[in-house]
Amino acid sequence: MKRYLLLAIFLKFLLVITPAEALGVMIENATDILNTSEACAACHGDINTQWKMSLHSSSLLHSIDGIYSFIVDGIEKDPIRKGLPLKGELMKCLNCHAPVMEYASDKFIKEVVDAIKIAGGKSANPEGKKKAKELLSHLNVSCYTCHNLRAVPPPHTPEKQTVYGLHGPGNIKGNAAYHTIKKTTYLDNSIFCMQCHGLYTAPDSERIICSTIAQSYRDQYVAAGGQTTCQECHMTKSNRGHTFPGAYAPVMLKEGMLLEVNARAFKTQSYGEKKWFPAAAITVDITNKAGHRIPDGCMWTSRVLLTVTATDDNDKVIWSAQKEFFEPGLDIEGNRRYDTWEIKDILDYSLQPRKTTTEEYYAVFPEREKLVKIEAKLVYIHKEGLEFPVHSERKVLRYN
Ligand code: HEC
Ligand code: HEC
Ligand code: HEC
Ligand code: HEC
Ligand code: HEC
Repeated sequence: MKRYLLLAIFLKFLLVITPAEALGVMIENATDILNTSEACAACHGDINTQWKMSLHSSSLLHSIDGIYSFIVDGIEKDPIRKGLPLKGELMKCLNCHAPVMEYASDKFIKEVVDAIKIAGGKSANPEGKKKAKELLSHLNVSCYTCHNLRAVPPPHTPEKQTVYGLHGPGNIKGNAAYHTIKKTTYLDNSIFCMQCHGLYTAPDSERIICSTIAQSYRDQYVAAGGQTTCQECHMTKSNRGHTFPGAYAPVMLKEGMLLEVNARAFKTQSYGEKKWFPAAAITVDITNKAGHRIPDGCMWTSRVLLTVTATDDNDKVIWSAQKEFFEPGLDIEGNRRYDTWEIKDILDYSLQPRKTTTEEYYAVFPEREKLVKIEAKLVYIHKEGLEFPVHSERKVLRYN
């Protein structure tokens, strides 16, 4: 017990001294941002373990390809952007991917940009790459980002060295002498998540379209009567807590889409012909049970692929059809692009929330078939080679 008390006193010291973000001072070098979530982990171990499983804990490294290409192609090859202050440009991504960088000195911004170029680039020796990645692994959507920096709705600003929570002081077992706690209902509101999961307007008015969830949540889901919050589906439900599962979690993908297949066998004849051909009227219903479109943008290669195939007795494919649900991004000239910083408009072929999308097919098979198996498959594709099967359903049709 006594040891714990000593540890707590030591941690209190750590907590107040180390995380520069807590002090609201300039971050001058890597050690200033190191261990901020670890400082919380000492007492909130379970939550820290959950958070480490979430993409929030690797929100820069997981998007490194996109952020690298923004620096190398977007900034360095564009004479206008190149002339603008580097920090302002970089924050067009890091405002959401690593918000603490708002408090970084110009020198440290430069250090991080160099690390991104090494970690994201093809060359560089393995040792240098490892070092760069180590530094960048500390830039993320940290505990302090959500419980302080973004925990207060603008125009209010968070108080330094304060942790914002839903309950306020004294409601969880234990003693909060380690940090000041302020109560806020903002953390429980979808708008809290929508700060980062939606369109972004930079201080210079440039619009960045990365995630488009906030817009489809508000305009398609809530507008159609949806009442569940982001926190209810992504945190409270099934005790997901701070793991924040999304489109990389098979269980979420399965929960987000329902697939129903109906197929009716009949026979058909071309006009004037004497022969009868086996045929099917196939209906596929896909229902979006999430709180927003599926899939969402930013990984601009993401798509949900529906494949319907008919196979014969020997499993030979005798008919097939495909349909993709996606959200292509367009640049200012109206050309389809895949890099975040080039996307200025979108087209919407995604699955809409609270809606059932129906695909109907009229399929005609070879004359000889007596038994035809119809299979519908849904696959979520992040990019080539990174795919998750979601659902599949079969029907068997017989002809005499
Ligand atoms: C308004 C906040 C915001 C801004 C600004 C922003 N992003 Fe994102 N970004 C997100 C969120 C949230 C996700 C997760 C999206 C999802 O899966 O729905 C994301 C995801 C990504 C991904 C895909 C990660 C993956 O593999 O699934 C890439 C790449 C990316 N962002 C790059 C960028 C780049 C480059 C910029 C700057 C030009 C940028 N982002 C600006 C919020 C933002
Ligand atoms: C993406 C934002 C986000 C991040 C990152 C985040 N939290 Fe939370 N946290 C929340 C929200 C939202 C709630 C309220 C959840 C709810 O509705 O039950 C919460 C709740 C909590 C609670 C109260 C739990 C309870 O039982 O009432 C604690 C403690 C906490 N977080 C600590 C942490 C720690 C420690 C970290 C880092 C390891 C962290 N959080 C990272 C958003 C976040
Ligand atoms: C030395 C232990 C200790 C450390 C370190 C610590 N906390 Fe806590 N924290 C607690 C205790 C104890 C409570 C419960 C307090 C209460 O209910 O009055 C708590 C409660 C909370 C809550 C819930 C507040 C609410 O209203 O529900 C949040 C959020 C939180 N801590 C976040 C953090 C974050 C973020 C960090 C790191 C910057 C951190 N804590 C570091 C001990 C600690
Ligand atoms: C400070 C900005 C920020 C806030 C606030 C925030 N997020 Fe995120 N979130 C991100 C970023 C950035 C990513 C993407 C990281 C990546 O893939 O590189 C992400 C990823 C996610 C993912 C995983 C996405 C996937 O592709 O599977 C989910 C789910 C998620 N966030 C839910 C939430 C919820 C729910 C809230 C509110 C309680 C929230 N986030 C608050 C920035 C934020
Ligand atoms: C009714 C439940 C529900 C609600 C409400 C909800 N989500 Fe989701 N969310 C899901 C499911 C299920 C998935 C997995 C399917 C998918 O990829 O969309 C998901 C996926 C995601 C992803 C990954 C999307 C992708 O395609 O990369 C992010 C990020 C996310 N949600 C954030 C949010 C945010 C932010 C809110 C609130 C504005 C929210 N969600 C509201 C159920 C919900």
